[in-house]
Amino acid sequence: MQTIHWIIKDITKKDHAIKEAGSVIAQGGLVAFPTETVYGLGANALDGQAVKSIFQAKGRPADNPLIVHVATIEEIAKVSSKCTETAHKIMQAFWPGPLTLVLPKTDSVPKEVTCGLDTVAVRMPNHPVALKLIMEAGVPVAAPSANLSGSPSPTTAQHVIDDLEGRINGVLDGGPANLGVESTVLDISNEIPIILRPGGVTAEQLEEVIGPVRHYKGLENHHSQISPRSPGMKYKHYSPKAGIILIEGQAEDIVLHTKELINRYQKENKKVGVLSSEESAHNYPGTEVLHYGKRNNPASAAAVLYAALRSFDLLGVDIIIAEGMPETGLGKAVMDRLKRAASSVVRL
Ligand code: TXA
Ligand code: MG
Repeated sequence: MQTIHWIIKDITKKDHAIKEAGSVIAQGGLVAFPTETVYGLGANALDGQAVKSIFQAKGRPADNPLIVHVATIEEIAKVSSKCTETAHKIMQAFWPGPLTLVLPKTDSVPKEVTCGLDTVAVRMPNHPVALKLIMEAGVPVAAPSANLSGSPSPTTAQHVIDDLEGRINGVLDGGPANLGVESTVLDISNEIPIILRPGGVTAEQLEEVIGPVRHYKGLENHHSQISPRSPGMKYKHYSPKAGIILIEGQAEDIVLHTKELINRYQKENKKVGVLSSEESAHNYPGTEVLHYGKRNNPASAAAVLYAALRSFDLLGVDIIIAEGMPETGLGKAVMDRLKRAASSVVRL
């Protein structure tokens, strides 16, 4: 299959490309597209066969359900039977945006989307190309992140091409995704809403609108054995080829321990990559250092995280040591992704 690369510099001048991509989706094909979080791999959410081909293209485990993307609030009626007052309040406050709601599903949602669950995850992305594509397709669009299963999520069209060229019909290139981590997945079926996956909308922002929320504690990482509420959370994710050792603790302690580990691995002739804060990057000469910005700026870390993990592969490092950051605001999502990508976590 030849993958078409549509470059959208100016959405008003590129109507025909998005129209063409929309008709590919309407006819059962697969198109990757930019959102404000990461690139998605879209198919007609009401077409079980088309949705199945997403799983094949990504090599995605068959029990990990997909998020359905809509362009208007009215479109939700096609996939969900019941929208509570809380749901509407959340949509008003955060849509379009990086917030996914888990809602009761209608019969028209094929089992391929929900993997047999009786709920469906829905979001309205905040990106003009994504919204226009969904409109042009004329159907809700099921879309996971457009990476090979297990790899870091794509934040540019080039990442999508690196992973999926020849496996999908096309990619709409709208430039880099600016947020860089995926949406927050929120379950509002209980009295106290539960964040199943931390993401672009923070717990603090949610609490301002709907009061207390809880974090789903059942599954801190892929080492856990219990059956998760959000099936995707049980898999090792977002991982470059080299193993990642994540170090959590106070900034000074992290630097000391990182230096120790660097020594140890260099003695074994290993090429070491370090993902560090801007402040401590100078501490690690002789290694491949990529920094994620200031330790207290999680938005900057989120924006560069996945691209940095992919760069370590290109640099050919054998092992990556990653400095943890405080878990406040977006830092929660950044640390969640690092923990899921890590082969081991050191808590100092
Ligand atoms: O920002 C995002 O959310 C991106 C862009 C493309 O929209 N999409 C994305 O999709 O991250 P994916 O497939 O990589 O992650 C979907 C997550 C998984 O953790 C999955 O288990 C969860 O949403 N999920 C989907 N349907 C669910 C449901 N009915 N109940 C609970 N969790 C669900
Ligand atoms: Mg994903």
